[in-house]
Amino acid sequence: MEQIDEQKIHDFVNKAMGDIGAALTSSLVVVGDKLGLYRAMADSKPVTSAELAAKTETSERCCREWLSAQAAAGYVDYDPATGRYTLPAEHAIVLTMEDSPACVIGGFQAMTAAMRAEPKVSEAFKHGGGLGWHEHDANLFLGTERFFRPGYNANLVADWIPALEGAKEKLERGATMADIGCGHGASTIILAKAFPNSTFVGFDYHEESIQRARERAEEAGVADRVTFEVAAADRFPGTYDIVACFDCLHDMGDPIGAARHIKSALAPDGNWLLVEPYANDTVEENLNPVGRVFYSVSTLVCTQAGLAQGCGHALGAQAGEAQLGDVVREAGFTRFRRASETPFNLVFDVRP
Ligand SMILES: C[S@@+](CC[C@H](N)C(=O)[O-])C[C@H]1O[C@@H](n2cnc3c(N)ncnc32)[C@H](O)[C@@H]1O
Repeated sequence: MEQIDEQKIHDFVNKAMGDIGAALTSSLVVVGDKLGLYRAMADSKPVTSAELAAKTETSERCCREWLSAQAAAGYVDYDPATGRYTLPAEHAIVLTMEDSPACVIGGFQAMTAAMRAEPKVSEAFKHGGGLGWHEHDANLFLGTERFFRPGYNANLVADWIPALEGAKEKLERGATMADIGCGHGASTIILAKAFPNSTFVGFDYHEESIQRARERAEEAGVADRVTFEVAAADRFPGTYDIVACFDCLHDMGDPIGAARHIKSALAPDGNWLLVEPYANDTVEENLNPVGRVFYSVSTLVCTQAGLAQGCGHALGAQAGEAQLGDVVREAGFTRFRRASETPFNLVFDVRP
């Protein structure tokens, strides 16, 4: 029998305990977000549990335990001399400032929702038929919108559109653009606000998301130039100067079929803005903290979503440039260029 290294056992137990703690922290972050506990501490003034409870109309005993858990997790600072807890200003940005690209609060909402699907996902491992995006807890859809919007706000108009050949000029002059797999329409609405001469259509197969996107367009005052319709990526109607897919091609059951349809819907000199999760081409290159998050959510959500749509070509969230290039070339596109990237996204300019 292989010699057992006791130290390795200890080290791995410590790592596993850290992961159990991280999972529990995620759940408590959602509590803090939902009840306004972080927002009540966002001024970085030290508070006692009684003060936090009074400010948020919650139970002092629950706040006391939550604050201690937050301090143990390194989310808030604790001063034993005063018994007060402080949310550092930098942490307040990450947890409460939803217009900052550093804000990841939506990620907690989305990922804890994804974790609720574990019983169905375990079953899906046995039958192999996947689990549809629409079959998840609605917090996955809301959390995804909140998680992705800060990145789109920071990068889409300032960097990604200018990085596509000719797209910014088209949109400034007045163009038609379709946002496929648009979810709650965060990206569509940001574009509509930035380019008032252009018109936008968001399509998604998920009816509940399309209803939410329509509400968002009304709230943002752009509903006259932005429409949202229920349609799958391989059969949406119309022709467009620009088509975009934000973080969704890898969720589709037939990415090549979707890409073929996008090509048929694109003007001869059109651009397909393809945004996908950041990934390298090999498993070993993705064994890092970002790859850990994306492979994990992909196992629970993205790969399952693709499998649930049949066809068997589920890319998953760590497809990487080489696989994505194969998909678009197979669909008949001739030009495929990495136009930009962030630590979380790859951005491609795909041309007919
Ligand atoms: C990760 S979410 C991204 C949503 C949105 N693009 C965003 O960035 O916030 C993936 C989206 O793809 C949609 N989707 C999955 N398969 C689809 C298909 N075959 N046709 C159209 N939409 C699809 C889902 O309903 C979901 O809204």
